[in-house]
Amino acid sequence: MFSSTMFDSNPPKRMPLGDNLVLTSVGSVEDAGRLAAFNKAIHGDGVDSTTYQLITQHPNTRPDYWPFIEDESTGEIVSALCLIPWTWRYEDVTLKVGEMGIVGTAEAYRSRGLIRKLDGYFKDLLRSGEFVLSQIQGIPYFYRQLGYEYALPLQGGWQLELRSVPDADAEELAPYRFRRATPDDIPVLQRLYDTTAHDLSITTVRDADIWRFLLTQTSGSETEGEFWLVLDHDGQAVGYWLIALHDFGIGLNVPETSRLSSEAAAAVLRYLKTLAVKRDKPFMRLYGYESSAMLQTARTWGAHKLNRYAWQIYLPDVRSLLHQLGPVFERRLAGSPFAGMTRRVRINLYREAFDMRFEAGTLSTVEAAGFCEGGDINLPPNLLAPLVLGHRTRAELASFYPDVGRGQSEYLIDCLFPRVEAIIYTIY
Ligand SMILES: CC(C)(COP(=O)(O)OP(=O)(O)OC[C@H]1O[C@@H](n2cnc3c(N)ncnc32)[C@H](O)[C@@H]1OP(=O)(O)O)[C@@H](O)C(=O)NCCC(=O)NCCS
Repeated sequence: MFSSTMFDSNPPKRMPLGDNLVLTSVGSVEDAGRLAAFNKAIHGDGVDSTTYQLITQHPNTRPDYWPFIEDESTGEIVSALCLIPWTWRYEDVTLKVGEMGIVGTAEAYRSRGLIRKLDGYFKDLLRSGEFVLSQIQGIPYFYRQLGYEYALPLQGGWQLELRSVPDADAEELAPYRFRRATPDDIPVLQRLYDTTAHDLSITTVRDADIWRFLLTQTSGSETEGEFWLVLDHDGQAVGYWLIALHDFGIGLNVPETSRLSSEAAAAVLRYLKTLAVKRDKPFMRLYGYESSAMLQTARTWGAHKLNRYAWQIYLPDVRSLLHQLGPVFERRLAGSPFAGMTRRVRINLYREAFDMRFEAGTLSTVEAAGFCEGGDINLPPNLLAPLVLGHRTRAELASFYPDVGRGQSEYLIDCLFPRVEAIIYTIY
């Protein structure tokens, strides 16, 4: 979180870019306000509050993670983006992730390479902060030019018409009560979230400070939401859900639901119907993992699947990522016919290769091998993210791209990189 004293001791650098333009970063609460106003002008209502609250209240923020370009001849901010640090869990490994967020350039300054300049600064931040993944939920195509590739599910979900939800009869609702969560409920929300997170191979880690931000600091922002608790007849919380107040479309958006029994899931859906009716929402849109009781129940009642978008991912440090994921690979090998394997696995990204050395099933080293011929898998560099994150299998990638090499090690590669279930829940 920002405090005014940190600005005094740490004034931001000012890097001249020519043409009166200077790349700098937020250095005061006034800067935070100016940047919020700029982001609102580019992206619309709510983004000003999102910016200001993230800068001044979010536990993960730092002033130098909010770079912008200023035109010194006018004193105006003309281009900006930010780095929002996250922690993700990939099975039992936690990873440092840096989101590129709130990217925009004033109309008169577009196509002059200003986002490219800010991206250079951003990638330096990723490297010096030892981030191994970076994600953005950006506009189509643009971020491919900055090294990003679609590699984790985002949005989509299921649409359930209100008429499809059987009316609540008193007996079915009786075991449950529902109420808005408050900051006092953070320990219980954390427990319910952590249990739910174990149904997924890749998801977000939320500590108590993130929960506090979500419950107390999103008011008026585009990510404002309501957390609700499901209570059993003893008043014990047995689940929760989140309603996003300003998400896409005209439905009641429920981007997150904890693990629920099938009885509780049906009761929650019926209650959501009553909320949707009160709020004049014609349908509800439910997000979640497909095996969850919530989505299974909604499907049974006739929900239909909506098109998905995807998080775009950049890998700032492939060697370190593969090394950190060692325990994941070791477990996959141990449960496969390659258990106890001693050998090198070469991942060849054409411009450079990475050698993973396994000894008796343990990943001992990962080395950057530079430009090499051959490999256990050859693939264009941008396709490593969807493969490593289990978003696309080797076979799927190969069916689209003839330069995803077949090699002699398909079976081993498939054991190391299976498809996995992932949902990235928000931290703001
Ligand atoms: C998209 C946007 C951020 C680009 O900013 P910019 O400062 O013009 O970007 P740059 O000049 O650094 O462009 C980088 C590269 O992308 C290309 N480019 C610019 N706008 C593009 C667009 N809308 N789609 C695809 N490519 C684009 C440029 O030609 C340049 O390519 P090059 O370096 O190979 O010559 C800016 O148009 C914008 O603010 N749009 C409105 C808000 C928005 O959509 N933000 C993104 C939200 S995720």
